[in-house]
Amino acid sequence: MMAQVWVVVPAAGRGTRFGGPLPKQYLPAGGQPVLVHTLEALLQHPGVAGAMVAISENDADWPGWSEIAGKPVLTCTGGASRAASVLAGLLALPDSVRADEFVLVHDAARPNLAQADLGRLLEVGRQDPVGAILAAPVRDTLKRAGDDGGIDRTEPRQRLWRALTPQLFRRHQLIRALQDAAAAGVEVTDDAMAMERLGARPLLVEGAESNFKITTPADLLRFEFELSRRAV
Ligand code: CTP
Ligand code: MG
Repeated sequence: MMAQVWVVVPAAGRGTRFGGPLPKQYLPAGGQPVLVHTLEALLQHPGVAGAMVAISENDADWPGWSEIAGKPVLTCTGGASRAASVLAGLLALPDSVRADEFVLVHDAARPNLAQADLGRLLEVGRQDPVGAILAAPVRDTLKRAGDDGGIDRTEPRQRLWRALTPQLFRRHQLIRALQDAAAAGVEVTDDAMAMERLGARPLLVEGAESNFKITTPADLLRFEFELSRRAV
């Protein structure tokens, strides 16, 4: 069997675009919090060893899960940005996770990850020296706007992809890349971007559009719809 990997789950966001007092990762969907759906999707996979969840300081909403799907769920304190939370999680992983081992990073707010996509990312990504990310090809026609809101031109979309998570990198390389971006004052919006800054070329692995991120209340309704479809 393939060696198992750990997953870092940044879950220290406030969900400002979603709104409301309870951060979106703790909102219920189909009877349990979004974050439990996310952790189950990850930990049910035989290739995943355990999860390190980066939560906000003094997080009163974390219910104290320590095991899901029979695998360890650990926590650490996240940071002021997604990148800072991922870095904290990588540093807090157990010592048994060697520096050159692959680790996954997956947003707490992406509960609808399919087992097949996770499996393909692990299988294909581990054959790449750098690592890989799940991504979806851009389907819409893209317009470049001018200052006046008019269209300057149409951008070719042939080689454009939307970055999803999970993303798979070697523990130490991603730590170094995130530290370097932070030191340079560059806000990286995903983990691959930190690696790219250092000249690495992570592999794109096509994943399903259904692995969307919950950003607004409409996204939570979409997830509830996906859950109800699973049930039948
Ligand atoms: N995240 C984090 N630490 C932060 C900011 C974000 O761990 N300081 C996590 C979020 O909890 C989420 C993931 O990064 O799982 C993706 O971020 P996003 O969807 O932007 O969530 P929020 O930052 O919570 O939402 P918003 O930007 O609307 O405030
Ligand atoms: Mg955010």
